[in-house]
Amino acid sequence: MENIDPFLRHGLFDAKVPRYTSYPPANHFQNDVGHRRQSEWLSCVESDESVSIYVHIPFCKRLCWFCACRTQGTQTMRTVDAYVQTLLKEISAVRATLPKTITMGRLHLGGGTPTILSPKTMKRLLSAIFDAFDPSNDFEFSVEIDPTEASEPLLQTLIDFGMNRASIGVQDFAPEVQAAIGRLQSLEETTAVLDFLRSAGLQAINLDLLYGLPFQTEESFRQTLAHVIDMNPDRLAIYGYAHVPWMSKRQVLIKAETLPDTKQRFELANIAHDTMRDAGFAAIGIDHFAKPTDSLYKSNKAGELRRNFQGYTDDQSETLIGFGASAISRFRGGYQQNAVATSAYQDRVSIEGFAAHKGYEMSDTDTLISAMIEELMCRFHFPTRELQTRFPEHAHLIRQTSIALMSRYTDVFNINSTGLEMRPETYALVRIVAHYIDAFNSSEVAHAAAI
Ligand SMILES: C[S@@+](CC[C@H](N)C(=O)[O-])C[C@H]1O[C@@H](n2cnc3c(N)ncnc32)[C@H](O)[C@@H]1O
Ligand code: SF4
Repeated sequence: MENIDPFLRHGLFDAKVPRYTSYPPANHFQNDVGHRRQSEWLSCVESDESVSIYVHIPFCKRLCWFCACRTQGTQTMRTVDAYVQTLLKEISAVRATLPKTITMGRLHLGGGTPTILSPKTMKRLLSAIFDAFDPSNDFEFSVEIDPTEASEPLLQTLIDFGMNRASIGVQDFAPEVQAAIGRLQSLEETTAVLDFLRSAGLQAINLDLLYGLPFQTEESFRQTLAHVIDMNPDRLAIYGYAHVPWMSKRQVLIKAETLPDTKQRFELANIAHDTMRDAGFAAIGIDHFAKPTDSLYKSNKAGELRRNFQGYTDDQSETLIGFGASAISRFRGGYQQNAVATSAYQDRVSIEGFAAHKGYEMSDTDTLISAMIEELMCRFHFPTRELQTRFPEHAHLIRQTSIALMSRYTDVFNINSTGLEMRPETYALVRIVAHYIDAFNSSEVAHAAAI
């Protein structure tokens, strides 16, 4: 194990900090802010902008015990079809408020399980989206796929509509781990989905894995990684399992005593890092890995990596419009989140066309802190000079922050001509460093372990 002294000193193994997929984190959104601002923010989108679209499908046939995503179990397609009907209304109401000439740079279907839709319902949804938004020239259409809930006709429908990136949930292949997280998924069914997609011409494949799962050992995790390397994905997300049963009730089915402790988690994260590097993947940010041919790798190399609600992205769009229950939109002026419960979402859309219930209006200082945190999370860098050029009215605050970071984290940062650079061996501390400059000092109870 590498030298863990800096990690002990800065509380890596005890800290509970946000993942900073947004700043401020979503638990700081306030009631009705989004609702008041939604029409205004939508109409302020620039007329030549290429926006990103996210559509949330909050349904699954099975509810995996580990899962912290906003989703609900359903066995009947009637509920799903009625929800899609509501989505169509929301898309139409939102589109009517946006400038006519915008294009769609990204479309991401997430969940839950988007592949639960029947091919017919998926066609209805995608036809409405493509009627409403013209794709831009470099359009990317990605979908989260549960290999145990993805029929070939449904996958073919997605391909026919131009899906060009698939994000496939794996988590872990060890049978004991799968049993303990309530998610059985064989190597064969995962490979069958990959083979189908590749034979249909899809090039870009992401796999999602988790470390820190119950009964996961170094040996079992190495075995999972070996299977994954055989599957030859272009990109991997290897997240630390967030055990937050106070937020995600089904996680009570996972006994805390079966989980690796924080030092074992750290070791598993290191194994992931070393194994993927040896297999020809570059580490991107704190939890992604990509081959040199993948767009995330290229974006990272060009210094253009961004952070959004899906984690790391090469998407440069300033505007993200989320449709569906709990979906979050990001505008220049702030964030807006739709009603979280499916029934509340459907009620709002049927009455108002829109479903915003919470949000956050960014002040100038929030925008600055958000930029500082994104620089740290994406580039492990605090670019003092560049930030002062971007935010001249805050030059003094930026300098003060840089001095405070350097004096608190002398063993983490090096100073260079552009600002402060984290030492590569300390990258695991980045969320803790970001939390230090987080004006909210987001309360510990709301978040998961820092590693
Ligand atoms: C919204 S889920 C959708 C995946 C899709 N339904 C499936 O089952 O394959 C997307 C990803 O979130 C990650 N995720 C879910 N719960 C998590 C947790 N408690 N901690 C960390 N990551 C989690 C998993 O890696 C999962 O693949
Ligand atoms: S991991 Fe996927 S299938 Fe399992 S509960 Fe979460 S969203 Fe549903």
